[in-house]
Amino acid sequence: MPVSRMFMNGYRCLACSAYYEQDFSGFLCSACGGNLDISYDYPAAARSFIDGLDDGFRGMFRYQPLLPVREPDPSFPLLVGGTPLYQASRLGGLAGLRKLYLKDDSRNPSASLKDRASAVVVRRALDIGAKVISAASTGNAGSSLACIAAAHGLQSVIFVPQNAPPAKLAQSLAFGARVLAIRGNYDQAFDLCLAASEEFGWFNRSTGFNPYTREGKKTCAFEIWEDLGRKVPDRVVVPSGDGNMLSGMWKGWCDLEAAGLIDRLPKIDCAQSNASDAISRTVLRIRNNGETTADWQEVAVEAVHATTLADSISVDRPRDGLAAVQAIIQSGGEAVAVPDEAILHAVAEVAALTGVFPEPAAAAPWAAVKQLAGDQLIEPDELTVCIVSGSGLKDIASARDAAGQPCVIDPDLESVRAAMDQQPLPLIG
Ligand SMILES: Cc1ncc(COP(=O)(O)O)c(C=O)c1O
Repeated sequence: MPVSRMFMNGYRCLACSAYYEQDFSGFLCSACGGNLDISYDYPAAARSFIDGLDDGFRGMFRYQPLLPVREPDPSFPLLVGGTPLYQASRLGGLAGLRKLYLKDDSRNPSASLKDRASAVVVRRALDIGAKVISAASTGNAGSSLACIAAAHGLQSVIFVPQNAPPAKLAQSLAFGARVLAIRGNYDQAFDLCLAASEEFGWFNRSTGFNPYTREGKKTCAFEIWEDLGRKVPDRVVVPSGDGNMLSGMWKGWCDLEAAGLIDRLPKIDCAQSNASDAISRTVLRIRNNGETTADWQEVAVEAVHATTLADSISVDRPRDGLAAVQAIIQSGGEAVAVPDEAILHAVAEVAALTGVFPEPAAAAPWAAVKQLAGDQLIEPDELTVCIVSGSGLKDIASARDAAGQPCVIDPDLESVRAAMDQQPLPLIG
């Protein structure tokens, strides 16, 4: 890949708009504590970005001109990104939708979209010479960081709630991370990771704190755009806990617009559980009360007591909540919160009708789409993309709850006949 220039300009605070030059080494805005957004010299980056699309380089670093990393790295040891976009006609048909797509990001190295963020953070760590990277995680960010760090020979320290799904913990351990399982929830793990990273000088990847995570996640939008023949979908539905995946999705489309490559933006809808709905509540409060968003510093993001079974989106206080709320409001998207039962049902439905196996959080977008369709908030011909953000293999207990149990039989034909009589195969249309 021929590009070697970095087009990143600096950092802008999403709350108070304070600006920091490229050499700023903080994570949050020094003036107000808000989250930072990375900006680029878009006109200059656009030409290199377009040229880079034709050079056959696979994975997310093909978008280097719009990434905050110093060199393109053809030798990046794992393929991150480049995941498939599937048309899901039979699934869409259930909700009367003719143009439903699934972006299957479970096909990343650690089986979640989080790898996009980890890849950029690890590249940044290499650029600044950091050797140990830490992260607070509900499970996936940790296993993702452990995976990408292992591939580069870097150390990782992961802070997770003790009750994170065993598969996610096992992944992190197998990748050689130091896993600190907290007797507490994700929000406590987050605060502890922050304090420990400051104390021990670790580079903290935590979502909604490190501005580089959003940059990695936005590459998911670039891929959707390319796979749709450089077209913009009508809406993208993103599972949301901290809100960073969603703000990353919005950033991707905004970058394409700023680079002059698209002339309209999609709606970005959040998909949450109604047992972890801080972002949805905030959007609804703003809309229902007619609150002004002229000054984002004045906008309070709700906190809740999260209890959802969709562990990846179980968050009390969303750490990138303001950016997510901005994205939904600015894009004209919907804030959707669905019951956990609908999420579990969606796991089985997505898997059985498409062959893509989502973990609960990753099935939430489909549950949200059905709710939107039921409320007539989505048109049958709207081109809608659901983000499948993590694999169902990460949470087998939920998958079993969603899909039921096998029929245990004796090893003879008579037992097969009895089982088939008892429960005939469903008719497939
Ligand atoms: C599979 C999956 N989906 C969705 C999310 C939500 O992302 P965010 O917390 O940035 O909103 C996560 C976060 O851990 C996740 O692991």
